[in-house]
Amino acid sequence: MTDQAVKSAPRVLVIGGGYSGQRFAQAMVDQGAEVWLTQRSARPEAPRKGMQWLAFDASQDLIPALPEQISHVLVTIPPNRDGRDDALEHLLDALSRQPLQWLGYLSTTGVYGDSAGAWVSEGSPTAATLPRSRARLKAEEAWLSSGLPVQSFRLPAIYGPGRCPFDQLRQGTARLVHKPGQVFCRIHVEDIVGALLHCMALAAHERPAVVNVSDDVPCPSSETLGFAAHLLNLKLPVYRRFEDIAPELSPMALSFWEDNRRVSNTLLCQRLGYELRYPSYREGFAASLMEEQASQKKA
Ligand SMILES: NC(=O)c1ccc[n+]([C@@H]2O[C@H](COP(=O)([O-])OP(=O)(O)OC[C@H]3O[C@@H](n4cnc5c(N)ncnc54)[C@H](OP(=O)(O)O)[C@@H]3O)[C@@H](O)[C@H]2O)c1
Repeated sequence: MTDQAVKSAPRVLVIGGGYSGQRFAQAMVDQGAEVWLTQRSARPEAPRKGMQWLAFDASQDLIPALPEQISHVLVTIPPNRDGRDDALEHLLDALSRQPLQWLGYLSTTGVYGDSAGAWVSEGSPTAATLPRSRARLKAEEAWLSSGLPVQSFRLPAIYGPGRCPFDQLRQGTARLVHKPGQVFCRIHVEDIVGALLHCMALAAHERPAVVNVSDDVPCPSSETLGFAAHLLNLKLPVYRRFEDIAPELSPMALSFWEDNRRVSNTLLCQRLGYELRYPSYREGFAASLMEEQASQKKA
């Protein structure tokens, strides 16, 4: 590698090295970047090639000293209940002193609230209904006005290997629930990573401040569960009407059924030219199952 290549290799900080954060980190390492990820534990995970772990947990007074010359940041941590964001509160000063070219913030499509099943796009009003979505909107707005080069990525339900309904079906704990007219949107974790890399590679002036990252097929959860059962060659659980099952659901589970919207990806996939790897749960579930099976064989 030449001196120039060494100097220009991205130095990336992932604040919140969880499910999406680790996948993004791996993609950046694969592109030659040096990556630091935060974890809440005081003794973070063993290092992986090209990655280093930093402990970050404000509730335990664990605030990391950031490495120098960070060029790219991904923030995946959710805000606290009142919309306060630990990364903004404790790391903004240190981030402001870095030569940042891009900061990606993972937000949620919950900020749009309920559209009674209608399509929403980045220009739609934000009318968050759930308390956690209102907190998210507050945090997203704070990041966008932080003075850093922030792009916010609004995500629906994230799925991928380890986050599909396969285990629930195998264990008999999956629920087949029908609520007339209700749809959910989703995105495969590899398409989150793909969309982040795609937007990061755009010229700064071409990057929209807010981008939805959702696949092409909003649909009922009974449809996705049916396909997962088909892939596993398992029977579907007994069909339940939402109003019959609602009293058995936890407040958190119930809250997922409150909003009903279809999230448009026109900006990402048409205007910005990103091509989804998994346009629907069909390709996404099949690939996730293959990846799960491959890693079980390796273990
Ligand atoms: N899961 C979904 O379907 C979904 C849908 C839409 C949007 N989102 C949002 O998208 C983002 C990424 O989702 P994900 O599923 O990849 O998240 P994840 O696996 O839960 O990873 C989040 C990471 O942030 C860390 N973290 C959380 N709160 C923190 C805090 N206060 N201080 C320091 N670290 C903290 C977590 O640490 P621990 O491991 O110690 O918890 C974890 O490493 C999240 O903000 C999530 O809310 C998720």
